[in-house]
Amino acid sequence: TDAASSESKPEHINKAIKKDVDKVVDKYDIEEVTGQCDAASNKTVSYCRCWKSKKFPLCDGSHNAWNKETGDNVGPLVLTKKTV
Ligand code: FES
Repeated sequence: TDAASSESKPEHINKAIKKDVDKVVDKYDIEEVTGQCDAASNKTVSYCRCWKSKKFPLCDGSHNAWNKETGDNVGPLVLTKKTV
């Protein structure tokens, strides 16, 4: 019915990460971000935006499987360290 459908909530984006908290918020000092930059390049760090990463809030590439499975097009936020 219309009443039933208006009461149903949309599907959760987050299936598994910190489900015991009201809101998943990750805070980093900019120095911490720099510290997480990829060891090989020492230039970039990628943050997950698909909520599938096993290393959340960092991206572990899980978005690739999700995109392939669903036809979605999600990907990480990639921060690049400025080189001087
Ligand atoms: Fe979520 Fe890459 S694993 S954006």
